[in-house]
Order: sequence, then C-alpha cells, then structure tokens
Amino acid sequence: MFKNSYFILRYFTICIVFGSNTAVSFAQDTAKMDAIYSGVPWFDQNGNIVSAHGANIIKELDTFYLFGESHTDTSNAFAGFNCYSSKDLYNWKFESVALPAQESGKLGPNRVGERVKVMKCPKTGEFIMYMHADSLTYKDQFVGYAVSKEIKGPYVFKGPLLFQGKPIKKWDMGTFQDDDGSGYVLVHGGEIYKLSDDFTSVTEKVNENITSGFESPTLFRKDDIYYFIGSHLTSWEKNDNYYYTSISLKGPWISQGLVAPENTLTWNSQSTFVLPIQGLKETTYMFMGDRWSFPKQASSATYVWQPLSIAGTSVSMPKFQEAWRINTSTGVVTIVENKDIIIKNTNEEIQYLGKWIHTDNGNMLLESKSDDKNASFSIKFKGQQIGLTSFVGPENGYAKVVLTDKKGNTMYTAIIDMYSKSSDLVQVFKSPILKKNNYELIVSVTGERPNWSDKKKANYGSTGNTISLHQITIKK
Ligand code: GAL
Repeated sequence: MFKNSYFILRYFTICIVFGSNTAVSFAQDTAKMDAIYSGVPWFDQNGNIVSAHGANIIKELDTFYLFGESHTDTSNAFAGFNCYSSKDLYNWKFESVALPAQESGKLGPNRVGERVKVMKCPKTGEFIMYMHADSLTYKDQFVGYAVSKEIKGPYVFKGPLLFQGKPIKKWDMGTFQDDDGSGYVLVHGGEIYKLSDDFTSVTEKVNENITSGFESPTLFRKDDIYYFIGSHLTSWEKNDNYYYTSISLKGPWISQGLVAPENTLTWNSQSTFVLPIQGLKETTYMFMGDRWSFPKQASSATYVWQPLSIAGTSVSMPKFQEAWRINTSTGVVTIVENKDIIIKNTNEEIQYLGKWIHTDNGNMLLESKSDDKNASFSIKFKGQQIGLTSFVGPENGYAKVVLTDKKGNTMYTAIIDMYSKSSDLVQVFKSPILKKNNYELIVSVTGERPNWSDKKKANYGSTGNTISLHQITIKK
C-alpha cells in the first residue's frame, strides 16, 4: 500500500458494457446459488455483479445485510457504498446505494471512500456507518461516519469521527462490537478506539499501535479471546495476512503467525471482516476477504469467504473451500462435494477459435491457454449450472465470459481475472443454477490485464494477458 502515492493506470480502459451495471436480458426467477463460492463473480437478483468490497455484514432479525464499496472499472474515485441483503449468505439482493458519492465535500468528486462498516448502536437504535475517507492521492485520510435510522439508508455523511475534538487521521480501518454492545473503531497498525454510547464520537484510545503495516484491521471475539487479523502493505496486491490474540482489547497482543498457509497470499485475498454466525448448535466464524482486481474492481474483484478453524489461540484456514454451505439456523458448516460432470480442456465438445496452446501432461496439468486477442472457446451444453476451472498466475489477464440461452440471448456476462501473484489451479466462474435447458458459454481473451503502478513507477500486477482453461464443470 502506498498511501502517499497515487495510482497511474498503465493503460486506458474503455468501459462500454461492463461495469457495475452488467445487464442481463431477463429477470432471474429461478437462478440461485446453493453455496458460498469464493473467488468467482456473484450476481444479484438483477444479474448485476455484486459490488461490495472492503465489506462487513450485520444481521437484523433473520436477514443479513452486506455493506461494501461500489466500484467502477475506470477510476479509483469514491462511487458510493452499496447495501445488499440475504437470508442464506449465498444469494444477495441489491437493496440500495446506502451512501452515494456526494456532490461535494470529503466524499465528493475525486475522493476515496473505503472499508465501509456498519454497526447498530444499542442505545439509540440508529445505524452508524464508518469509513476511510481520503483524497485520490491518499494524502488526506481520516475515519469518517454517517448515520441512518433505517438499515438500508440513506445514510447522512457527518464528516470525521472525533477523538478529543480531532479527526483520526488514519487510512485502513475496521469496526468491532463486543459482547456487551460497546462499539470500537480499529485502524491500521492495531490502534483501537472506544466509541461513545451513541457511537458518533470516540471516548478512549484503548490500544496503541502494535506494529507497522497491519492494514485491513479485522477483529473478532470467541469466548474470552480476541483475535486481531491484518495484512501487509502491498497496495491492491494480496499477501499472507497475520494475526494476534489477547484476552483484553488493551493487550498485550501476542503474535500468532499466519491465517492461511504461507504463500497462498491468504488464499489470494485481504481480510476485511469476520462474521460470527451464531446458530442453535454452533457458532461459525466466517472470514471475509477481498480478491482485488485493479483496475477492473467493479467487474472482476471477487470475494473470499471461508469458515475459520479456531482452537484456543489458533485461527486458520488450512484448506481453501471452493464451495461450502452454512446452515444459518444451526450455524453448522458443510463442505460441498463437486458432483458435476467434468469436461477436460481437450474434450471435443469445446470449440477453440484463434491461437491456443494445449498441454496434456496428465490430468492435473491439462491446460489450454492463449493470449491472442482474437482467441476464444465456447461450449454448448444442456444443464443447470456451469463452472470454469483455470490456472491463475503472474502472466494472466482478463477473460470475458458470456452465457447465453438457446436463442442466443445473453443471460450473464462477467470479466474474470485470471491473474494471481502465486500460481494456482482454481475455480474462476460458477453460474447461478438455471432452469434445466440448453445454453452456450463463450469465453474470450480481452487483451487486458490487472496492472497498476505507483508514483515511483513501481509496477504491480500481471505481465501478460493469458487466459487459461483446465476444465469445465456442468450440473446436469
Ligand atoms: C490496500 C487497502 C485498501 C486500499 C488499497 C489502495 O492495501 O487495504 O483498502 O486502500 O490498499 O492501494
């Protein structure tokens, strides 16, 4: 993260079709997800890509509300904070732009608004939204807040949250609500601030800086232990997130190591929140992370939500769960076994156009790849759901995916980011469950890649535009 730098796009992106309003031709009555799939685009009830990054979730009665950053594919300027709702945590209904970009002021044009978090104040019953507000060059940062009587907003932006009459001039922030209802604001480095009874100012700094860096501060409690997760400073690039534990918010905080296996870059994500899902049988703690994708944050940034394994002071995500279910009444997690039909990259049902390299080095290494701008592959299939598994790596770029019905009407479109600093074999697309019918999936090379640089011209992101296919999965 280069907070005192600005980002220069390496190339100019023309956003014609794709953006937060990726349109579909009809309402998706039957299209539903049946599990939490990490790292693939999610579609809301209108078929638009869910844009809710740097997010948190709060539960009101039996409904979960997700708040996150709305983005565009063309600029890093504040584009509002979105609110979605869900009863199962798999299907997200777009509710509102809870806090839109303001006409002027600190969240007006050419400003940054990030890491939105909402808490309900137990004393007033109001919903208070917190965020990192900044200039586009990341030189005017502070923790701001906005208020609303209704959970979905509209929230009214109030400006900086004050402590001893002064703004908290920090960037990455988070929130935590303790078992007794008290609210806290966390900032990068590990400082913790206690909120007043009405949640609109700070009464006390309860914890000093723990370490340098420690961005995307994420805190939760299980029984008598507090767990504090954060990331290294690597801009939009993912890294191995680490954590501390303590029996008091005031510390001392004990360093406990990494949250996920080393070099997985926290399963290619950055922490933003941990949601305790309290059920009749168990409480599951769900890690919520961002898989950023600069510059196409609206189209291609995805979510990595994983169940945490917790034992004493140890928190881990030892295995990446591609698909898992959470029973929101019992709190119990089940891992979904993939029973779909597998179609390997070399199967003749897949039509390749343009230049492709096909490798057949045994099952696990099968790959078809291309960086030819005119290249695509397509498959016609009968079934209810389709998924793509690809090799992601440092030279990969953006692929365009179009799913059509048998008449050729576009049902879903997405731009898939196949870049990852650490190479891996992962699912990159999973359609919603459709009516059993005939469909076609077309995937093409865009010739674009996630790539950005800072003021010092240090480059981040991919070095190539390759897209890859390992296998297609189909639910019949
Ligand atoms: C990340 C930070 C994000 C955003 C980004 C900009 O490290 O966690 O919230 O500020 O840097 O580079």
